[in-house]
Amino acid sequence: VNHLLGIKYITPQDIELIFETADHFKEVINRPIKKVPSLRDITIANIFFENSTRTKLSFELAQKRLSADVISFSAAQSSVKKGETLIDTVNNILSMKVDMVVMRHSNPGAAHFLSRNVKASIINAGDGAHEHPTQALLDSYSIRERLGSVAGKKVVIVGDILHSRVALSNIFALQMQGAEVRVCGPNTLIPKYIESLGVKVESNLRQALEWCDVANMLRVQNERLDFNYFPSTREYAQQYGLDKALLDSLDKEIIVMHPGPINRGVEITSDVADSNQSVILDQVENGVAVRMAVTYLLASKIK
Ligand code: CP
Repeated sequence: VNHLLGIKYITPQDIELIFETADHFKEVINRPIKKVPSLRDITIANIFFENSTRTKLSFELAQKRLSADVISFSAAQSSVKKGETLIDTVNNILSMKVDMVVMRHSNPGAAHFLSRNVKASIINAGDGAHEHPTQALLDSYSIRERLGSVAGKKVVIVGDILHSRVALSNIFALQMQGAEVRVCGPNTLIPKYIESLGVKVESNLRQALEWCDVANMLRVQNERLDFNYFPSTREYAQQYGLDKALLDSLDKEIIVMHPGPINRGVEITSDVADSNQSVILDQVENGVAVRMAVTYLLASKIK
């Protein structure tokens, strides 16, 4: 398949190959000359219908490090605002001899829809509350880097599971690699189907942290919540926020992850985000190598 639409559609062998390839590219981007000529003959369009800092810049940088030609498109400044459809938009971009499309969209299934309707390789950079496959790959890669492997590790995903594409992709990726996954959060933010995925729900943050090796603290997606949603930000921070006192009171050293952007003082306090136990900026750094690997492996199938 010439697409990366979700973790659900790839295999543990695919993940291992992506990680081995990312190991190579991580070494490359730490050299004085950070570029390789691998994709000189490939043109990639990054089309973002939702805001992004990390994913958009990280894909762009990954593509440039591979020597691909890159064009970037933000829906807010485009003719989408004049009513142009998704398929028309992408087909017009493809007629400029583009080979691959990286897309973020607010609708779950948008990347699948595109893959069925246009002739290009599609990478899903986040589709609504569905999947964010490259985020899950870079998260697992960062666990593997810090703890040696993902297999056998206990990972708790904390917070707004209901609105999170990061949670679903992480659950698939972690389980596929032999990790045990739990979720923790207020029951208003835990989807009903979660236990059918083999994921236990823990409502008490301290108990969840005492169980885990890794805590992935998700952002509360305020933009997707009603004004009167329970819990309030203050209640959320009190019950599900991770501060240094709680982290230091655990009888082992866990690692703390966050996909960003952080609501400092809500999901985690600054002293946790900036501590030695936090791998948040490692996640961002690894995102470039992992996205280089995904792009390189997909492009090698269309060359
Ligand atoms: N983690 C993540 O997807 O961040 P952005 O929304 O900034 O891309």
